[in-house]
Amino acid sequence: MRDGGKGYDPATAFLITALCAASAALLLLVDGAKGDEDEFPTLLINGFTATHAAGSPSPFEPVLYAPNRAFAFGFLRVGPGSLDLAVVHLPSSLPLWRATPARLGDWSRPATLSFDTTLVLTTAGGPDTTVLWQTLNAAGDTVALLNSSNLVVRRYARPFPSWQSFDYPADTLVAGQNFTAASPPLISSNRRFALRLGASFIALHMEFYGGRARSPAYWRHSALEEPPAAGNATVYGRLDGRGFFGMYLDGDGGERRVDVLSFDTFAEANLAGALFRRMTLDDDGNLRAYYWADGGGGSTKAWTAEYEAISSGRCGLPTACGAYGLCVPGDEAQCQCLTADTTSPPCHAGGDDEETAADLCDHVDAELDVVRRTRVSVAYKEQLPPFATNTTAAKCEAACAGNCSCWGALYGGASGYCYLIDFPVETMVYDADDAKVGYFKVRKVQSQTRRRGMAPGVKAVLAVVLVGLVGAGAYVGYRMWERKRRRRGEGMMVQELGTGPYKDLKSMASSNNSFKA
Ligand SMILES: *[C@@H]1O[C@H](CO)[C@@H](O)[C@H](O)[C@H]1NC(C)=O
Ligand SMILES: *[C@@H]1O[C@H](CO)[C@@H](O)[C@H](O)[C@H]1NC(C)=O
Ligand SMILES: *[C@@H]1O[C@H](CO)[C@@H](O)[C@H](O)[C@H]1NC(C)=O
Ligand SMILES: *[C@@H]1O[C@H](CO)[C@@H](O)[C@H](O)[C@H]1NC(C)=O
Ligand SMILES: *[C@@H]1O[C@H](CO)[C@@H](O)[C@H](O)[C@H]1NC(C)=O
Repeated sequence: MRDGGKGYDPATAFLITALCAASAALLLLVDGAKGDEDEFPTLLINGFTATHAAGSPSPFEPVLYAPNRAFAFGFLRVGPGSLDLAVVHLPSSLPLWRATPARLGDWSRPATLSFDTTLVLTTAGGPDTTVLWQTLNAAGDTVALLNSSNLVVRRYARPFPSWQSFDYPADTLVAGQNFTAASPPLISSNRRFALRLGASFIALHMEFYGGRARSPAYWRHSALEEPPAAGNATVYGRLDGRGFFGMYLDGDGGERRVDVLSFDTFAEANLAGALFRRMTLDDDGNLRAYYWADGGGGSTKAWTAEYEAISSGRCGLPTACGAYGLCVPGDEAQCQCLTADTTSPPCHAGGDDEETAADLCDHVDAELDVVRRTRVSVAYKEQLPPFATNTTAAKCEAACAGNCSCWGALYGGASGYCYLIDFPVETMVYDADDAKVGYFKVRKVQSQTRRRGMAPGVKAVLAVVLVGLVGAGAYVGYRMWERKRRRRGEGMMVQELGTGPYKDLKSMASSNNSFKA
């Protein structure tokens, strides 16, 4: 040990052997105390490590089980080749919670999960190891997965966990999990949508460019008529196992329920308690509650939806037909395009691209086309503050045309309302009213942009600018490399869900909610 591990004298060797035997006995004791076989560990103690072998064939590698064996925590393969940590509902293989580090791991590389007062996920990235994720500010002695699917880090003497996965939801809430002002938003697994809590309401938002641009709301549910007075408690929500989502206020007399979103099965008392429930922000932008029937018999088990926030059909969803799509409601909702270049989605590639800037104001010289349509409206009009009332279609359009933060304008016809869309244009809805008109800016797709001839003088100036830019780019690149190198050395690449901007839009886009799919 002391001489760089060159060989021990017999006394040291004996000591090491004795120590190993003692710690093995201790481990057995801890396991024995929980009354579980070695294959289904229900408690991790300090010093625990588990490794994920590079390119392992199993899409989920559990390291910890809930006593009820319905849930397990372990390494999860996401999309074609990313690695994450997750709590999985074993009967359905559905991840209920994911660590979602700012940088996902690579399934084809070895990774290590260790517990030494904090849980840490590291990956071997070339010559160094990189910390991908860590439970911050939460020292503990044990890690357990509860029957509720809550992953908890605990101090021996303390009743409350020092860290719990319930405080960091991914796209799903389960019964007993508080969704509070301190919780990060629920983010759909494709990262396009978010559920946020306001002082007196919950709201669904579209996310653009990984949350870096404005996130417009498209659905809102108020729990109180009036928001609480400043300084007062704010509402929080909790899925109740009996079949509803309750909204609560903490007051002097303890918790007070102020509102209920009840599910279809709420009244069916015979089902209560026997069901496992979840509420998930799905990839289509709808918030749904599901139950998993655990009743016996040979019936095929599946998730059954028992609540959806947007129940007006497909055209009620904000991106039903994609960017610049037009959703035509009916028994079979149909997708068309606002733009003329294609008749069915995907309608226009330029508007939704992460590479292009979040804001037209960053690219005031970008070439824009304009599309005007009659008989268009938007499903979430109530969530758009009207820019003007009692105005004309021409004035409505002009307000948008001269404003680079505006992507489109909708004129409400007889009502005289004018709505400006200050975020990239998504799906509009067909509305059989000729007075309802829309005006939309369309960024020209790069490859179609025709280049006009330039005067030689302009070319020379451009060349000088370009050389300068290349030089600056090389310098910036060097600085970034240098900073990254230093940071890696300090092992500082640590991010927990919700503390940073959501990255990895591309890799996430291909991820699946259920790894079985
Ligand atoms: C968890 O579930 C198991 C098996 O269903 C049960 O024996 C145990 O008592 C439960 N634990 C708690 C804390 O409810
Ligand atoms: C949820 O909030 C209630 C009321 O504040 C509290 O009693 C309960 O322990 C919380 N549950 C969890 C899992 O934190
Ligand atoms: C909010 O504050 C007011 C006065 O500050 C108080 O009277 C009221 O009870 C508070 N409401 C809640 C729900 O705490
Ligand atoms: C709407 O505008 C017209 C003409 O500008 C005006 O005569 C009318 O009073 C306005 N109506 C309201 C409700 O403001
Ligand atoms: C430009 O549009 C944004 C929203 O689309 C609006 O908030 C802002 O007031 C507008 N600016 C002007 C000068 O009209």
